[in-house]
Order: sequence, then C-alpha cells, then structure tokens
Amino acid sequence: MSRVLLKDVRPYGAGEPVDLLVEGGVIAEVGAGIDADADEIVHAGGAVALPGFVDLHTHLREPGREDAETIDTGSAAAALGGYTAVFAMANTDPVADNAVVVEHVWRRGQEVGLVDVHPVGAVTVGLAGEQLAELGTMARSAAQVRMFSDDGSCVHDPLIMRRALEYTRAFGGVVAQHAEEPRLTAGAQAHEGDNAARLGLAGWPAPAEEAIVARDCLLAGHTGGALHICHVSTAGTAEILRWWKSRGADGEPPSGTVSAEVTPHHLLLTDDRLDTYDPVNKVNPPLRTDADVRALRQALADGTVDCVATDHAPHAAQDKDCEWAAARPGMLGLQTALGIITLTMVRSGLLDWRGVARVMSERPARIAGLAEQGRPVAPGEPANLVLVDPDAEWTVRSAELASLGSNSPFEGMRLPGRVVATLLRGRLTAHEGKVRR
Ligand code: DOR
Repeated sequence: MSRVLLKDVRPYGAGEPVDLLVEGGVIAEVGAGIDADADEIVHAGGAVALPGFVDLHTHLREPGREDAETIDTGSAAAALGGYTAVFAMANTDPVADNAVVVEHVWRRGQEVGLVDVHPVGAVTVGLAGEQLAELGTMARSAAQVRMFSDDGSCVHDPLIMRRALEYTRAFGGVVAQHAEEPRLTAGAQAHEGDNAARLGLAGWPAPAEEAIVARDCLLAGHTGGALHICHVSTAGTAEILRWWKSRGADGEPPSGTVSAEVTPHHLLLTDDRLDTYDPVNKVNPPLRTDADVRALRQALADGTVDCVATDHAPHAAQDKDCEWAAARPGMLGLQTALGIITLTMVRSGLLDWRGVARVMSERPARIAGLAEQGRPVAPGEPANLVLVDPDAEWTVRSAELASLGSNSPFEGMRLPGRVVATLLRGRLTAHEGKVRR
C-alpha cells in the first residue's frame, strides 16, 4: 500500500503546522511530528491543506478539437491547478449527447488518471435546443452522467427546459444552464455598455442573462428539478438568485434546488479590457462592469453564488489570433483559478481558506453529487487534496501552462497563491509545478 507523508501542512490555513499521513488513498493520520516510513515525503513548509478543487465547468475539447486541448493536456492543467475532479462540457465534436461519447470521455480521463474527468451530457441533441438528448441513457452509462448542459448555447425553449428539469429528477441529475436569451444577443460581441458603444461592437445586454435565470428559477420551483446556473456575470443575476434563495411559501424553501457558479475572470476583469481589442479578452458571457465585479464578489462571499467554476476554454491559435469578430469566445482558467481567487477573495478579506474550500471544493462536489470529493481534511477521509502556499507569488506565462491553447487573459500578471502539490486518492498528481504521471 502506497504511503505519502505530508510534512508541515495547515488544514484550512488554521493553527500550527501538522503532518498528514496518507495511506491507501485515505488520510490515515493527522498530527504533529508523525514519523512513519513513506514511499514519498513532501516538505510543505506550512502550506494550507484543502480538499482538492472540483471544477463544474471545463472544456477539454476532446473529441474533435485536439488541436486546442486534449483530455491529457487538460487533465495536466487541472492537476497543476489543484483540481481533483473536473466536469468536461458537452460542446465537443461530436457532441456528448449520447452514451458512446460520454463513455469515451470518461474512459480517457481514467486512463490519463490525473484528475477525475466527469463528462457533462448535452441537454438537447447536437446542442440544437430542439429535442431532448437521451439523458437517461447517459445517466445509466458507464460514465454515470449527472450533469447536463448545452453550455455554449442556451436551452432557450422553456418547454424543453421544463422537460429536462422534470426528467433529470428521476436519477438525481442537474441541468446546468448557459443563460443567454438568443433573441437579445444575436451578433453580440461584448457587454452592452459605453465601451462597446464607443468601439462599435454589438452589445450583449445583461437582461439576456437575467431573463433566463429568472425563468429557470421559476421552472425549477415548479418542477422540483435541480438547476445550476453557469458563469453568472451580472449584478442583476446575483439579485435574482438572492431573491430566489430567500423566498418560499410560509417560510419553506422553494421546491427544486438552484445553485450557481461564477468564474475567476468575472471576479476580476471588466469590459475596460475592450480597449486593447485583443480577442484574448473575448468570452461568453462577456466581461462586464466594475459594479458587476463587486456584486459578484459579494454574492460569492455571502453564498448567493455557491461556487467558483473556471469555464476553462482553450482555443487553437488561429481561433484567437484574428480580428475580434472572428475570434472564438473563451479563456484558459484551470491553472490560474486559485491565484485569481486568492487575489480577489482572500486578499480582500471576503473569504478565508475555509471559505475557499467551500466554494472551490465542497459545494461543487455536493452540487454534482460526488461523494468522495470535497470531504473534510481529516482522518478516514479520501485523500483528494491540494496544498497551497498562500504567500508565494508567480507570474503567469501562457506558453508555460500545460494547456495546448495559450489564451490566458492573465498573461504577465503576478498572482498570489501557488499550488505546492495535488493528490488524487492519495497519489501525487502534481508537485512543485510538475505533473506526476
Ligand atoms: O466563452 C465561452 N467559451 N463561453 C462558452 O459558453 C463556451 C466556451 C467555449 O466552448 O469556448
């Protein structure tokens, strides 16, 4: 049985450093001065120990766009970013709308073995929004799909959304909505506001997101289904979620569950970036305003928005190094998420490390129904862990990231919070910036 000894770690960043002995994939012992034979000893220098991060929103591009990312390279980026589980979005080619594709993604993730890759199944056939995909077949497949999303496209037909929320109840599924009313965003290139107007870019108005979020909260309540809102980007959406979570007849919480995620880029960047005209800043939903950023940080801190998800969206060079209108939307996120959250939420005092564990691991694991992730850092628990040096700063160099794409909007930024090591079921998957295969 393999043994790893982690010397000098601080669970959740609190108290004096302790040692952590990991044996057979489980945390066997936590205490001061553990002296045990181990296959490997990691000297962590007081690093914060947290449950491994769980990303509900990752684009791995395989099958179909292996020039942008593969399950192998994306898994490496995830391990280096502190993740032990990721959910691979369905907008691949072919689309993951059937058992064959989701099983392929699941198996490939297992073969690579750096992070648990859970395929997300499409809600509708071909992401076309017209006909429900075989959700039950994907749920019963070897991949045991529980998250369903047409991400990249909105399930805009309210009747299809209703049916998806009803049907997924049968097997505890969650419908993750990319909230964008397409009639309001046709041709949109950037957040509808002063910056887009000045540059002559067609606008993506905030109500296009908010209208769908409000509608779908009502549908979740009506059907009792589980709804998850992808990449919340506006202050108005946070207000709607706050209203929804606080309402309920006679003090009872509303029927159905609604959860939501926010991306690191929407917690830091604004549409002031449009001035550069650099398509690395093009993303969907678009970068919004300072007021939105402030509202999103607050909403994440107070639990209105449940968790952080990266929307890691690698693209091949030719799809980004072109004029703005032709460029694909999306940004790298897996290896910079921790740094951005440390900068925006920890350094600002909005979250402590226990809070980071909540929004980057515990809540996403619960939303997706992962029993072995997001567990306490305590004896007897699965050793899915990340060790973080909260003081170390590093400079983002896109070319050095593990992703095949290099479309990071954080290029050249100095970020606090460095991953010292990641462990998946007790095995080191990343250590000191190197992937361990
Ligand atoms: O910016 C984005 N890129 N937003 C999405 O919803 C899809 C994603 C992608 O697949 O590139």
